[in-house]
Amino acid sequence: MTAGELSAPAVVVTGATGAVGRHVARALARRGPVRSLVRDPGKAEALGIGGEIVVGDYRDGAGLERAFTGAGAVFVVTADPLRPQDDAHILDAARAAGVRRAVKLSWLAVADPRANDLVARWNRESERLLRSSGLAWTVLRMRTPMSNTLSWAASIRRESVVRALGGDARTACVDPRDVAEAAVRALTEPEHAGRTYALTGPELLSARAQTATLARVLGRPVGFEELTPEQALARWSARLPRPVAQALLEAAQRRQAGESAEVEGDLGGLLRRPPTTFAVWAADHASAFG
Ligand SMILES: NC(=O)c1ccc[n+]([C@@H]2O[C@H](COP(=O)([O-])OP(=O)(O)OC[C@H]3O[C@@H](n4cnc5c(N)ncnc54)[C@H](OP(=O)(O)O)[C@@H]3O)[C@@H](O)[C@H]2O)c1
Repeated sequence: MTAGELSAPAVVVTGATGAVGRHVARALARRGPVRSLVRDPGKAEALGIGGEIVVGDYRDGAGLERAFTGAGAVFVVTADPLRPQDDAHILDAARAAGVRRAVKLSWLAVADPRANDLVARWNRESERLLRSSGLAWTVLRMRTPMSNTLSWAASIRRESVVRALGGDARTACVDPRDVAEAAVRALTEPEHAGRTYALTGPELLSARAQTATLARVLGRPVGFEELTPEQALARWSARLPRPVAQALLEAAQRRQAGESAEVEGDLGGLLRRPPTTFAVWAADHASAFG
């Protein structure tokens, strides 16, 4: 099906190959027309995200125009704090095409006045752009997604160990499938316009406690080794630009100081059920750590 053949206004999903976006795209594809803007159609196919695929980049005006023609709503996910213009490109293209509704994935640290790292400042500015875009907006501020623990999978598989910074710092990590369900509600139910939601999981958990849960699920011991801040920074810097790695370190240090230790009620209210526990998420993803 091409963009012009769609009869009902489509929902455009950006970030459809990401941790939350993949679930948003799949869920919307079961309900009606959905168009996912992706850089790599092979990755989209492997993830089985369904619906119509439009290949493009946030820097590619023609791709954005193809994605938004005839669309009614957009799920906005950007991922590069060093490219703050991505949000503006998406919102400008959506508005130019007549899109009326936008739901943005953001970070709960934005709400913390003590959070002044690069990623927090970038998300704050992205939220400001959204609210002044002229579109009917909703912001979903997410706490750490449980899927971040997939970065431990290789060392668990090979060495039965998790290495991380701040093993005792507790945070209410959240199932990205729940965040996606909240996003689908925000995209399809009118009462969420003009609202900002704080999305956390149901319990405060440390990395050590998550490691213990993974060990129970796997049925074998998994150790935990504390990294120094220097070791953690070196690991992040190996795969991310240095300023982003530095921002992750600052966020981890805030967690260690107890500054992300709240369980919020918005997600349960949106889903009309309790948010998913880490034990359930871990059992559902055991094969990735096996
Ligand atoms: N991860 C966390 O710990 C966390 C916690 C709380 C809040 N957040 C917030 O959640 C949002 C998403 O962050 P994330 O890093 O977690 O996302 P993610 O799950 O890694 O997803 C990013 C998505 O955006 C796509 N993308 C990135 N750059 C693109 C471009 N130039 N053109 C087209 N598609 C592009 C990626 O496509 P590819 O598959 O092609 O790369 C991927 O589908 C951010 O606002 C972040 O601050 C993240």
